[in-house]
Amino acid sequence: MPHQPLPTIDPKKLPKHVGVIMDGNGRWAKARGLPRTAGHEAGEDALVDTVDGALEIGLKYLTVYAFSTENWRRPPDEVRFLMNYNRELLTRRRDEFNEKGVRIRFIGRRNDRKLPRSVVRMAEEAEDLTVKNKKLNLTIALNYGGWAEVVDAVKQLPPKGKIDEKAIRSRLYAPELPDPDLIVRTSGEKRISNFLLWQGAYAELLFTDVLWPDFRRDDLFAAIAEYQRRSRRFGAVD
Ligand code: FPP
Repeated sequence: MPHQPLPTIDPKKLPKHVGVIMDGNGRWAKARGLPRTAGHEAGEDALVDTVDGALEIGLKYLTVYAFSTENWRRPPDEVRFLMNYNRELLTRRRDEFNEKGVRIRFIGRRNDRKLPRSVVRMAEEAEDLTVKNKKLNLTIALNYGGWAEVVDAVKQLPPKGKIDEKAIRSRLYAPELPDPDLIVRTSGEKRISNFLLWQGAYAELLFTDVLWPDFRRDDLFAAIAEYQRRSRRFGAVD
């Protein structure tokens, strides 16, 4: 493939928050005659390069979809693999992310008997370790689903309290995060798959055919350049 010149990004119009649906690992592996799990493994380099790219341009919030509340429906072997893989990846990378100034957070249903306690422990250790970091907020959606998040928020509403958008929003898993301006999905699927449903109501959506294991910071930059060409009106007029 001829090398594409890097798109220019206007640093004054950076999105604050980019969400990424990391899809296509299974297809990447299948195309190489490898087991699906090899595709997930290959996704690690994509994640690390995307984080480095976010740091390079000064993006403040990056949220990635690692495991959805619906992913439990996958074959038990793959679920087990993904749980171990998430735990090991974070254990392997947390010091490096910490030294780079990345604050790690997890969103998702933590109090779920299906979620191994060792995974929750790993998540909380990474959160504690990086809590003071300010360069980039990396949020990992794990056992996350937008429906579950809204249900969990509504369950916490005080019985006689006022019910409005603010009351629900303030009870989401990480209410301190700004809404995503841009959500990128790899692998050519054009769906939101229960990712940041409430927060992404006005996000720009960008779909790329690149499979997640092939995604690199240049693809993130290209997505941001495309985002900067769009006009956002939030229901109003220009
Ligand atoms: C979807 O591809 C990908 C996943 C279910 C897992 C994504 C997770 C990672 C790349 C690891 C990130 C880990 C952390 C801790 C942030 P797919 O299996 O649905 O691919 P397919 O659609 O081709 O079958």
